[in-house]
Amino acid sequence: MTHYALEVRNLTKKIGKKMIVEDVTFQVEKGEIFGLLGPNGAGKTTIIRMIVHLMNRTRGNVVISGHDLDQSFKEAMGEVGAIVENPEFYKYMSGMKNLKHYMRMATKDISDERLNEVIHLVGLEQAIHQKVRTYSLGMRQRLGVAQALLHSPSILILDEPTNGLDPQGIREFRDYLRLLANQGISVLVSSHLLSEMELMCDRFAIIEKGKLTHISRMNETVDNKSLTKQHVTFEVSNGEQAWNLLINHSIGEEVKVEADFIYASMDRETVAKANQLFVSNGLQVYEISYLKTSLEDRFLELTNKDKKEQSI
Ligand SMILES: Nc1ncnc2c1ncn2[C@@H]1O[C@H](COP(=O)(O)OP(=O)(O)OP(=O)(O)O)[C@@H](O)[C@H]1O
Ligand SMILES: [Mg+2]
Repeated sequence: MTHYALEVRNLTKKIGKKMIVEDVTFQVEKGEIFGLLGPNGAGKTTIIRMIVHLMNRTRGNVVISGHDLDQSFKEAMGEVGAIVENPEFYKYMSGMKNLKHYMRMATKDISDERLNEVIHLVGLEQAIHQKVRTYSLGMRQRLGVAQALLHSPSILILDEPTNGLDPQGIREFRDYLRLLANQGISVLVSSHLLSEMELMCDRFAIIEKGKLTHISRMNETVDNKSLTKQHVTFEVSNGEQAWNLLINHSIGEEVKVEADFIYASMDRETVAKANQLFVSNGLQVYEISYLKTSLEDRFLELTNKDKKEQSI
């Protein structure tokens, strides 16, 4: 029987009369990076805290690598590595000493071989004997991942791991996660940024006011991009001439012109063709932009609505 790395069924949290999380159900496959995407206050942290048992569930099941949290708590938790709040380290001690301290407190025996393995995995070999106080935020984050991985969990759970990292740090972090996934470790990660989820995850779920409203698989989105027609805008040096070129060559559908902007519906290959046609006829093309996909629209609408509510 094949197990999911994580299975969450009807996860629900009610505090007083308020529904914080309602009937959230999803599965994370082995070696998959799965995202929870939602605006501030959507319930991402609450979902994660219930999965790692930092908070009681009102209702629902959590099964980790085939172990039900209610029936085999120890086995289930043994399969999870998590960073929920910022990982706390002793700043006056080296990264190595911090990890060794953690090893001594762990319920499971961890070998020195495993210790060196995780240090290598997160690329901290050079800095591991330096005091944590000298580490950048990105390095601390990696030390946190190393610590979470020490007991060889099958799933790593990270709540907004890229918060505070610069673009370079975010990119590196993404690469580490992919490296882990390629070794068969699953990752559950939360974020409020769609662009980040798109780059980082194989699939992600949208969380809206405590409910899971949509699950998206990334390669499907990429395929769609190249195959389906999208609304596209060209900004050119001469709109009239560009419009004539498209019409005469029967390129694109719903082609409209407004000053030096051309609006049309076409797939990506046709966009490239149109661009070539413009340029070879002496036109300047200043910008080509796609109208946001419906998923993006929906997510932005969601986040903006939320911001408005917060500012009232
Ligand atoms: N202990 C609590 N008592 C009452 N309400 C709570 C409690 N914990 C969380 N909430 C509420 O539950 C909702 C979800 O919070 P949660 O922290 O899970 O959201 P989040 O998606 O992680 O948001 P963020 O992006 O800001 O981290 C919020 O409206 C929050 O105010
Ligand atoms: Mg949160």
